[in-house]
Amino acid sequence: MSLTIALSKGKLLSGAEALFRKAGLPFPLGETRRLVVETGGLRFLFVKDMDVPTYVEYGVADCGIAGRDVLLEAGSDVYEPLDLGFGRCRLVVARLRHTRGAESASTVRVATKYPKLTAAYFLEHGVSVEVVKLAGSVELAPALGLADRIVDVVETGRTLAENGLLIEAEVAASSARLIVNRASYHARRQDVSRLIDSLERACA
Ligand code: PRP
Repeated sequence: MSLTIALSKGKLLSGAEALFRKAGLPFPLGETRRLVVETGGLRFLFVKDMDVPTYVEYGVADCGIAGRDVLLEAGSDVYEPLDLGFGRCRLVVARLRHTRGAESASTVRVATKYPKLTAAYFLEHGVSVEVVKLAGSVELAPALGLADRIVDVVETGRTLAENGLLIEAEVAASSARLIVNRASYHARRQDVSRLIDSLERACA
């Protein structure tokens, strides 16, 4: 039976493809709308980035590639044997350039795709927070009055800059990680080890 690997069609896809090709591993060819693709003895599932850890935790996929940001938010019980080195970005708190650092309001309203991480971060810093969960385009929220701050991923910084925002603090650094289902790690040890070794050599 072939190993099943969960990937997201988001920002990490091109890095994952480059790494698999460098490692001499099979990877689906070209654009496809199919969400399950078998090729060269591997089975690929294409899911939303936040769902990759879930598919791996529940054993629907043996392995997956997910950003550390997503793994921290999901808190899934999976092995994380390898930092794959691509998809480097930072999870940050940002605010409008023209607002002052400390507003008078006792509770800060923060828009984000990362509600758990955001709540934990502000709690740790002793700041009362109201988290507004959004699915994307989070950078719009402060200018439109939906939130005082955002917690979001920054890669080049262009999205922040073009929406009049600046970084106030860093919450976490992130990069793409290989994750493995705990049962698969033992039951399919040989196949999983071969995959880990190939990817490790390719990203060295
Ligand atoms: C991510 C993130 C920022 C942007 C940061 O969004 O949420 O919006 O990338 O990249 P930059 O610093 O290089 O500008 P994504 O493209 O995943 O879309 P989304 O906002 O719809 O989730």
